[in-house]
Amino acid sequence: MEMNCFNHRVFLLTLLLPIVVILVEGQGTRVGFYSTSCPKVESIVSSTVQSHFKSDPTIAPGLLRMHFHDCFVQGCDGSILIDGPNAEKTAPPNQLLRGYEVIDDAKTQLESVCPGVVSCADILALAARDSVVLTSGASWAVPTGRRDGTVSQSSDANNLPGFRDTVNVQKQKFADKGLNTQDLVTLVGGHTIGTAACQFFSYRLYNFTSTGADPSINPAFVSQLQALCPQNGDGSRRIGLDNGSANKFDTSFFANLRDGKGILESDQRLWTDNSTKTFVQRFLGVRGLLGLTFNVEFGKSMVKMSNIGVKTGTAGEIRKVCSKVN
Ligand code: HEM
Ligand SMILES: *[C@@H]1O[C@H](CO)[C@@H](O)[C@H](O)[C@H]1NC(C)=O
Ligand SMILES: *[C@@H]1O[C@H](CO)[C@@H](O)[C@H](O)[C@H]1NC(C)=O
Ligand SMILES: *[C@@H]1O[C@H](CO)[C@@H](O)[C@H](O)[C@H]1NC(C)=O
Repeated sequence: MEMNCFNHRVFLLTLLLPIVVILVEGQGTRVGFYSTSCPKVESIVSSTVQSHFKSDPTIAPGLLRMHFHDCFVQGCDGSILIDGPNAEKTAPPNQLLRGYEVIDDAKTQLESVCPGVVSCADILALAARDSVVLTSGASWAVPTGRRDGTVSQSSDANNLPGFRDTVNVQKQKFADKGLNTQDLVTLVGGHTIGTAACQFFSYRLYNFTSTGADPSINPAFVSQLQALCPQNGDGSRRIGLDNGSANKFDTSFFANLRDGKGILESDQRLWTDNSTKTFVQRFLGVRGLLGLTFNVEFGKSMVKMSNIGVKTGTAGEIRKVCSKVN
């Protein structure tokens, strides 16, 4: 009886352990991949992000968004970093990405201490995590071992989620990458830092319906937004995605959705649709629902996102310069 039970457990463990390991590590990436080949990688990336952040705090949201846009197109393979007339970075959704110089700076330093070892895709994944930490978010262990892709086509960026997407479309685009509804709400919570240009939401403020602004925006907030983004005004003017807390990684973005203060239509819809609203409420600790801790869940969903379509082993290459294939 005892023995049977023991055998049973051992059997279950042998069966489950590899599955658990795969879930934690993703498709061939693992925490500490460079621990012998380039032990200083994490400290070099973090000190580089930190020094750029000191002179320009907007690089933190910039790098987080860049990693998302890298992962959703050709997988997390640094394809967003490649220069060229028809490269991904030239696609409309990518035109306002920022922070390329931070990745280049880290890469230059890494090439001098461990040449040809660390991929640009890994530098970007680490820099995204460091950006969250610099804005007071919680840290998480980033599995590494990604290799760099050699293909970067602007047309491939068409499948990125758009700011007018319905919740069903957002869910579908995330599901296509192996991310569920909770991951969607959690990761869009990345909008707790950073800004958006008026051009991406001013259509919600004027003539959205025959009577005026998008009714899902809090009326008092509409007036504030109209003052900041006048009709036919400067579409490049930037407004915090998380009103009142755009520099701090916290749950107030979700509270703003509850209060009708979402900036992007796609964000506000997460509150309108019941299937996503429930996760927003759980992050806000609404009574009667099982609570979720944003800081904890964000790291978990980021590890999943950071493993989308990764190239490992002998696939791809380790780029010498992040903006060029070898
Ligand atoms: C449905 C999904 C999403 C849509 C439609 C969306 C759309 C947008 C748009 C339109 C902007 C404004 C860009 C600009 O004006 O420069 C933006 C900014 C941003 N996005 Fe998203 N996003 C989505 C998901 C995500 C995810 C998953 C992350 C990261 C985990 C993320 C991180 C950011 C950050 C940090 C900014 C601020 C960038 C800055 O300040 O430079 N977004 N997003
Ligand atoms: C709103 O739309 C109507 C009909 O399309 C148009 O006649 C009107 O000039 C628009 N108003 C503004 C403020 O753009
Ligand atoms: C957001 O919040 C601040 C208070 O920190 C306020 O002054 C600002 O005008 C608000 N509105 C918008 C649209 O950003
Ligand atoms: C969302 O949930 C509320 C309350 O449970 C319900 O009244 C409403 O009909 C639901 N809406 C949709 C579109 O399912």
